[in-house]
Amino acid sequence: MRVLGIETSCDETGIAIYDSTVGLLANQLHSQTKIHTHYGGIVPELASRNHMKNTLPLIETALKEAKLKIEDINAVAYTAGPGLIGSLLVGSCIGRALAFSLKIPSIAINHMEGHLLSPMLENPQLNFPLVALLVSGGHTQLISATGIGSYTLMGESLDDAAGEAFDKTAKLLGLSYPGGPLLSKLAAKGVRKRFIFPRPMTNRKGLDFSFSGLKTFAANIIYNNENTQQMRADIACAFQDAIVDTLVIKCRRALDQSGFNTMALAGGVSANSLLRSRLKDLMIQRNGKIFCARPEFCTDNGAMIAYAGIVRLQKNLDNPLNITVRARWPLSELTAP
Ligand code: KG4
Ligand code: ZN
Repeated sequence: MRVLGIETSCDETGIAIYDSTVGLLANQLHSQTKIHTHYGGIVPELASRNHMKNTLPLIETALKEAKLKIEDINAVAYTAGPGLIGSLLVGSCIGRALAFSLKIPSIAINHMEGHLLSPMLENPQLNFPLVALLVSGGHTQLISATGIGSYTLMGESLDDAAGEAFDKTAKLLGLSYPGGPLLSKLAAKGVRKRFIFPRPMTNRKGLDFSFSGLKTFAANIIYNNENTQQMRADIACAFQDAIVDTLVIKCRRALDQSGFNTMALAGGVSANSLLRSRLKDLMIQRNGKIFCARPEFCTDNGAMIAYAGIVRLQKNLDNPLNITVRARWPLSELTAP
């Protein structure tokens, strides 16, 4: 079965074709970063307009990359939430209409399930049960996953998501949007432990996070010190250490609480090399396993949506005509395929 995956939930148009026997045949991405950088964050209306401009041409490019015709596609998977409603509507309407005209099934995919399953793009043997840490621009969640579609929320951010905290602090440091990867690069030049940021909510029981105080902490240091390149690098280093430490502490706690010894790490922030290596170390210490996606599949992409589509469509060929998109769509509402 060959599935066309369409991802338009935020500021990236991602199109991919995944074959259930051969694997990934095409992967195309158009990033809108240049458009939104100017405003310091995503402008939803501009995001939708840009998805409208790019989705169909990218589908054509993906078909060329895979050396296929549109008739060779057996099903369409599109992101239906969570995300920006206008952007979701573009991908969902195109995906649904394409499937209708080709008389093939289509399926609405939860973007966060796409992220959660993204490590399977490289490791099809992802063993359940596991604890998943989903860290993106809009979400920070610890999920207990006992199988595909069987997800329970263990903890989440009560305010800013980890990626959002990276982006806001990066902005304070004069870096452009999205600041996560740039902040991480700057942190590499920082002097470790010159500043010590708090590890929010680690003194209390529980698995929830709160990252919004970290940007205020950074703002105070900037205000009280001479603003030099070295000082900014030192702040970036201290901020990254704090956020990664906090995530690792809560992962350890989630593993203890669940009794599971496998982790999946996914979402844009999972491209962060310090987070990846710290969690790998944690799982080595525990004699457990960790599955991560390749960095290019950590941030939004069409491949993870096509893959989640394959996993669900192989078991469920239901093909309703309605299109429902959701700004919020908790993973715990999903069911096994
Ligand atoms: O999953 P994603 O592409 O989009 C959402 O669904 O939100 O995540 C984007 C987020 C942004 O906040 C970005 O700054 C962050 O992931 N990010 C990183 C890194 N690469 C992307 N944060 C820290 N370090 C990175 N290397
Ligand atoms: Zn995402």
